[in-house]
Amino acid sequence: MKDFLNPERTFHFANDSKNKALQTLLDNAFNKLCVEPKKTEFPNHFWSAERYGLHLSKRFQSLDQELKNKILRRLTELNLSLSYFIEKSGHNYGAKMILLSDNQDEKSLYALFAADEAIHQREFMNHMWFIPEKKTHWHPMLDMLGEAIMEGERNTLIYVVQVLLEGFGMSFYSGLAESCEFHPMKNVYHRILLDEARHHGSGVTMAQHYPVNQMEKDQIFEYTKSFIISLQSANWITETLEQNSGELSIDEKNAFLENIKYEQTLAARRVKLKDMLLKVDNWGLVAMLEKDKVL
Ligand SMILES: [Fe+2]
Ligand SMILES: [Fe+2]
Repeated sequence: MKDFLNPERTFHFANDSKNKALQTLLDNAFNKLCVEPKKTEFPNHFWSAERYGLHLSKRFQSLDQELKNKILRRLTELNLSLSYFIEKSGHNYGAKMILLSDNQDEKSLYALFAADEAIHQREFMNHMWFIPEKKTHWHPMLDMLGEAIMEGERNTLIYVVQVLLEGFGMSFYSGLAESCEFHPMKNVYHRILLDEARHHGSGVTMAQHYPVNQMEKDQIFEYTKSFIISLQSANWITETLEQNSGELSIDEKNAFLENIKYEQTLAARRVKLKDMLLKVDNWGLVAMLEKDKVL
């Protein structure tokens, strides 16, 4: 099964079947299921400077409008790309969980789950002017997700993907929905949020239902740790600023992060991640993560 679940197939499987008749059939099916039709014209960016705290940065404010627009467009692309890769990976996740299900209830749940992710991916692609690339649109958190989908035991995946990743996805998407200035996309995020809440909720229910063995506990701890570290250490905003306006010295970087209140963003995220894990923690996971200074 691992051959089918390697990260290359999970994230970078070809989208195009080159079969026109099949594509028409699929387009018709998706047209009935999507909340927004495909767009061909887009604003420069879907989220403005306030989304990232950039309106508080003297450095950003001192740039000319063209550069500001370039940065905001790139950040929009990165938000969409992370969403796209998460939804794409949901196909393989659903497929693996259908096979690992203990009963028909779970099989049906994951069949619906996979269908939801297929619709979500299409909704995103209907609002993208580009196809995300591994080299230019990657987020380090996806490395852990790919490995977990390939290697994780069933209970590990319930914790790591459904409770943690889907839980994070809900707050990521809800922030993007609130601040999105392109209304069709805003509708899409609101619609997807309802489905993600069901995915997360079913994960919490199942995590509470199944006891986890030592091997699963070890896996859950390792993946959770690497998920949180990669999430908290990735810094798109500084990277994008530097790519477009030159490298910052350490002092300039610190001042920039202070201006955009980055530490507060990270701290708020840590609280959310901890709250999510506490819903299913009856064996000391949060305490272990705190001991390792991950939370
Ligand atoms: Fe999704
Ligand atoms: Fe989901």
